Amino acid sequence: MNAHFDAIADGLAEHGYAVIEQFLSQPEVDAILQLEQFRQTGQFKKAGIGNSQSLQIREQIRGDLIQWLDRDTAPEPVQLYLDRIHELIGFLNRALFLSLKDAEIHFTIYPPGAYYKRHLDQFKQDDHRKLSVICYLNYDWQEEHGGQLRMYLDDKTMDVLPRAGTLVCFRSDQIEHEVLPATRERLSITGWILDREAALKHLS
Ligand code: OGA
Ligand code: MN
Repeated sequence: MNAHFDAIADGLAEHGYAVIEQFLSQPEVDAILQLEQFRQTGQFKKAGIGNSQSLQIREQIRGDLIQWLDRDTAPEPVQLYLDRIHELIGFLNRALFLSLKDAEIHFTIYPPGAYYKRHLDQFKQDDHRKLSVICYLNYDWQEEHGGQLRMYLDDKTMDVLPRAGTLVCFRSDQIEHEVLPATRERLSITGWILDREAALKHLS
């Protein structure tokens, strides 16, 4: 695990992002995919875009469904992941002299065809999101399924396939990115590491 944390710290320091394969092992991904929560899509809601846009405009920007997670009440396989992200916070604070405090994290489903247009994760009116952290949960994902995370770097773009166990971490204030439409349902756990305590999103 420490090798993963080291690679994340190095990637962030050098390039503003890191891509880590097998951050979650196959048994860890299996345990998450077996949860009821991922089969009862009625518990998911349409994601917003940070301000009060109309439904129609929002759906032209992003089409994913989300369910906020809470460290105290999440089922064990999810808690394991959330605990690891909190360990990562401590590690990055020490390694990169940051003062990260907490994380806000949700399950995410992109139905086939859904996408998220190019954007930055830090809102103009709220700069507490410092790092974006996404872990993918899709087995046997091939290039032709689409669904890439496309990051816009200084002189190139970088695509990541949403393969089970892969984690991407990037600076929320710097890296513009988008999610390309896929031919399959695309599952992930999406989160942001904050420089303050997280609000109780699951109550909203
Ligand atoms: C987001 C986002 C990327 C992905 O939720 O803000 O950009 O690969 N997600 O799911
Ligand atoms: Mn984003």
